[in-house]
Amino acid sequence: MEHLTARFKELFHTEPDATYFSPGRINLIGEHTDYNGGHVFPASITLGTYGLAKKRDDNKICLYSENFPEKGIIEFSLEDLDFNQEHSWTNYPKAVLKYLKEAGHSIDNGLDILVYGNIPNGAGLSSSASLELLMGVILEDQFKLSVERLDLILIGKRVENEFIGVNSGIMDQFAIGMGAKDQAILLDTNTLSYELVPADFGDYVIAIMNTNKRRELIDSKYNERRAECEKALSLLQTKLDIQSLGELSATDFKAHLDLINDDLLIKRAKHAITENERTLIAKKALENHDLVEFGLLLNASHDSLKNDYEVTGIELDTLVDAARRHTHVLGARMTGAGFGGCAIALVHKEHWDTFVEDVKKEYLEIIGYDTEIYQASIGSGTTKLS
Ligand code: GLA
Repeated sequence: MEHLTARFKELFHTEPDATYFSPGRINLIGEHTDYNGGHVFPASITLGTYGLAKKRDDNKICLYSENFPEKGIIEFSLEDLDFNQEHSWTNYPKAVLKYLKEAGHSIDNGLDILVYGNIPNGAGLSSSASLELLMGVILEDQFKLSVERLDLILIGKRVENEFIGVNSGIMDQFAIGMGAKDQAILLDTNTLSYELVPADFGDYVIAIMNTNKRRELIDSKYNERRAECEKALSLLQTKLDIQSLGELSATDFKAHLDLINDDLLIKRAKHAITENERTLIAKKALENHDLVEFGLLLNASHDSLKNDYEVTGIELDTLVDAARRHTHVLGARMTGAGFGGCAIALVHKEHWDTFVEDVKKEYLEIIGYDTEIYQASIGSGTTKLS
């Protein structure tokens, strides 16, 4: 923080008057269910994005990221909040500002903002949602806005969907905006009701394993899966009175496969529906401290994402297989959108070092480049630090 404050002074020739933090997230289970009206079970982590800010005397927003120093200070005026390719990463905070103003909040002068994130780049731990909520909280605090946290979360989702053009669900922004230390969040994406559940893994810890795979085609594949689920839903709706796949039990689904009558669409819908059920069982297992059961559900989730939803790929599968082969691991799965990004594993604390060594070795041998492995700590949601 000292270094960031010094950087702020150097760049903006003034002292920041407040500092903020916004986490990244992991999803324990409930993958690709959030746009299907199902449940998700994510948690905010202590890796995230820091922000330092101070009001300016004019109407300019000046943003600088320690992660992209080569881009320098990027600035735009409060009067021009349209998407601009040249404004690169600052389109995210710009859109948050735009939507808050559109909602009637009074933001009438400029800001200097410095951000720095320690979420590994492209790791699928939601660095963009982290940045959106960070900007929301900076604006809320600097301009003393009266805005509900849920509205900031919905604005973040809208930034992705409408400003950036990614058709993602609500999970990432919700996990980051509502996160709490040592708690996981069971969210019903249909009603947005949620419950905090102690993320108590006893003698075990959650490992985050990064594939380090370049993110390619993720957005188009993501939108394709989403469209496949919508198609399956519309076929089911010819007979069934449901609004989302999340409303259907696996048993009812099995009884109506003939309505879909397409192997690929059946596989996609089967994942969404069984994953929703697994998520609810996993939440109970965690509450009952039944980590063996919890681990088995993680495994089943990954297998479904691999075989039915087909969003894993060799890198994620290699990490998950390597982790599962370890005697002191109770379960492992990909987390987030898939196709790359990160996987998680439930690892016994005392065997952490050999676990890391073994998985790293196997990944390097098979994939040809390194994985990074971190111990996840579950921390607070987006907040002002000082
Ligand atoms: C991405 C999206 C989320 C969710 C996950 C998959 O992280 O942003 O909304 O759909 O993928 O579970």
